[in-house]
Amino acid sequence: MPGKILVTGGTGYIGSHTCVVLLQSGYDVHIVDNLSNSHQDVVDKIARITGKTPGFTRLDLCDKEVIYGFMKEHQDITGVIHFAALKAVGESWEYPVRYYHNNILGLLNLLNAMHESGCKNLVFSSSCTVYGQPDELPVSESAPLKKALSPYGNTKKMCEEIIEDHVTATSLNAISLRYFNPIGAHPSALIGELPLGVPNNLVPFLTQTAMGKRECLKVFGDDYSTPDGTGIRDYIHVTDLSQAHLAAIERLEKEKNTQPCEVFNLGTGSGYSVLDIIRTFERVNEVKVNHQIEDRRPGDIEKVWANPEKANRELGWKARLGLEEMLESAWKWEEALAQKH
Ligand code: NAD
Ligand code: WQD
Repeated sequence: MPGKILVTGGTGYIGSHTCVVLLQSGYDVHIVDNLSNSHQDVVDKIARITGKTPGFTRLDLCDKEVIYGFMKEHQDITGVIHFAALKAVGESWEYPVRYYHNNILGLLNLLNAMHESGCKNLVFSSSCTVYGQPDELPVSESAPLKKALSPYGNTKKMCEEIIEDHVTATSLNAISLRYFNPIGAHPSALIGELPLGVPNNLVPFLTQTAMGKRECLKVFGDDYSTPDGTGIRDYIHVTDLSQAHLAAIERLEKEKNTQPCEVFNLGTGSGYSVLDIIRTFERVNEVKVNHQIEDRRPGDIEKVWANPEKANRELGWKARLGLEEMLESAWKWEEALAQKH
């Protein structure tokens, strides 16, 4: 019998897609979120997609007493998927302390509350940002972690280390999932990414430009050592990513993990340039994207893509959807948002 999973940050972008997959696979789901970067109506959208309503509690993980109280009251929770974090790289340079406070304290409180209540399974949202610019591509999990390129990135690195140490000292089992670049939205267009203000990331900026909400997409640099000179990333469909969380929590719940603390790359294994993204988007959606080449963005790496073989082999998970499906769904989501406003 699938157990009950606590999803922190479950009304957010990746969390909401993961709740859908968990509910569709028979898990009971309870979301906790402080709604600092999401809306409660996402709970209803998840219910519309799955026919099942997840539990929801608005709480801040930085409030120790509240999360302790929550875990004590919900002793039936068998595993936790921890998405809740602040994630804007640029903002983390402006407010580093806010990022360290939220992302580190939130994790510490959660780990302590899980320990007190005897909950032993944790899946953590990490990021390919922990690799910096890798020396070898594709990058595998054994590659050395580089100095973080932002306070945000550093919180991910530190959280991975905290989890590793805590696992050594306790009976916790944990999996850190290093996402590459998640994009796209659920095919229903009921849930997707909701960037607040001006998006930092390529695809939301691109879809908003195509919609006419932004004048022009800046392509940050065309002088990189890549075939067309623009930066290369491993973009992954958010629905593929959510399936990997199901595989990870199942691995822990069924005690199939081979070590108490494991790390997996979640990418497709293919890299695409910024111009590949723009051209593919224009072709599959038959929409033009006004864009121009600008200077490089400070702090950007040149190229990165994953070696996802460990996740393929050990989690039995593989990204299935290609760039066209990712960019079609991203556009469908932007169109759905435009209809609402
Ligand atoms: P998101 O902002 O859409 O979701 C995060 C959710 O956490 C939000 O709903 C927010 O309200 C909530 N939250 C933040 N701090 C909280 C706190 N203290 N207490 C309770 N709730 C809190 O972000 P996302 O894109 O879904 O990212 C999910 C996770 O994946 C994050 O940990 C992020 O760092 C990580 N990640 C994201 C990407 C990406 O490109 N989206 C890439 C790699 C890793
Ligand atoms: C992708 C490419 C840009 C915007 C960030 C975080 C990382 C992870 C994923 C959480 C790059 C180019 C972008 C634009 C552009 N998040 N670009 N014009 O930088 O790979 O990673 O999100 O963990 O930590 O740093 O993603 O979408 O910002 O950029 O040309 O307006 O698009 O230079 O080559 P990035 P991104």
